[in-house]
Amino acid sequence: MQAEYRQRREQLMAKIGNSTAIFRSATTAVMHNDVEYNFRQDSDFFYLTGFNEPEAVVVLAPHHSEHRFVLFVQPKDPEKETWTGYRVGVEAAKELYGADEAYSIAELNEKLPKYLEKADRIYYHLGRDEKFNNTILKHWRGLIATYGKRGTGPIAIEDSNFVLHPMRLVKSQAELELMRKAINISVEAHNHAREFTQPGRYEYEIQAEIEHIFRLRGGVGPAYPSIVASGANACVLHYIENDRQMQDNELLLIDAGCCYGYYNGDITRTFPVGGKFTPEQKTIYDLVLSAQLQALAQVQPGNSWNLIHDTAVRVLVEGMLDLGILQGNIDELIKEEKYKPYYMHRTGHWLGLDVHDAGMYKQGEETWQILQPGQILTVEPGIYIAPNVKPAEGQPEVDNRWRGIGIRIEDNVLVTESGHEVLTAGVPK
Ligand code: GLY
Ligand code: MN
Ligand code: MN
Repeated sequence: MQAEYRQRREQLMAKIGNSTAIFRSATTAVMHNDVEYNFRQDSDFFYLTGFNEPEAVVVLAPHHSEHRFVLFVQPKDPEKETWTGYRVGVEAAKELYGADEAYSIAELNEKLPKYLEKADRIYYHLGRDEKFNNTILKHWRGLIATYGKRGTGPIAIEDSNFVLHPMRLVKSQAELELMRKAINISVEAHNHAREFTQPGRYEYEIQAEIEHIFRLRGGVGPAYPSIVASGANACVLHYIENDRQMQDNELLLIDAGCCYGYYNGDITRTFPVGGKFTPEQKTIYDLVLSAQLQALAQVQPGNSWNLIHDTAVRVLVEGMLDLGILQGNIDELIKEEKYKPYYMHRTGHWLGLDVHDAGMYKQGEETWQILQPGQILTVEPGIYIAPNVKPAEGQPEVDNRWRGIGIRIEDNVLVTESGHEVLTAGVPK
């Protein structure tokens, strides 16, 4: 993988020319008292380095004569490492990660200016770490104050997202392999969960079976908090309590994906707890499935990102009109978003190192991203009719027989040269 990380850095450096890019590692987060959450590297940082520790900074300075790739890392400290684990350290940061130069993070303020003072611009994303944002701004201000004496220095900060994220959007072969691994584990877990489900079991039992497989197969664990939502719980989009006992004649919505080697699956299936749909459940299920299949058919290189969503919405609205859940003219219902009490989210997102992965959906007010081979996205329409749902203005009250039904079907899809490949086809719909 080191060759690939290097290639990514080279690609980025070619784009930024006579500028310097700075990326900050993720920080550790406290769970309670002196216990921390598992550390998870920032995705941009990982994408460029594979380096997996907090308190680190990458500097890419393509214009520098010797040090084009510089790492600032935590120094070796045997006493601390006994408690908090192994550190790569400054020397090995060069050997193992290919940095031209490496320093202790404690030297950042002293060393950083020399990588900035000949740069035309700084590429940096203002992140959640305000203290570090201020560090970068302080250096920039200092360099602006002295620009007149030097005649060089960054005259602007540009957001690195706009150069790095288009790269992350199109997956390499190595990334695709990791995605397939994460997704195949997720597929196995969903298939097992469905077989394991029966009336009387608790939602958390299903969650435990799923997450057992994630870890057993070498995954890090869940890519996001697993949603195991029976009955009307499925109408709460991010239901994660997972503590209810499931009954016969109910549906179970499972939205769970494995994280493997930093890459993520994200699958949703909805099925009857007791193995048999009620007629109402089947009607809504068939409608969501039809929307999902027609939306999937639009995943083709050259198509607009938004065509997937528009297609799903039209099928769902048409179906809800037929069922009397909506009333009126289809084009007006869509334009005025009268379906939103029952379908309130978008039909998908990019998928990769982040579950809601990097990459723009729109560039320009009316210019949607055009699909191209190598992109991976989810297609995940649903219908959610909460027991206490309030219809949109001018729309009828929902008949009681539909209330409490929540259904989503979510696949992970690779855009290919000739169309698409559903990577999650191993879980039945
Ligand atoms: N599980 C989060 C999502 O489907 O987007
Ligand atoms: Mn999901
Ligand atoms: Mn999703």
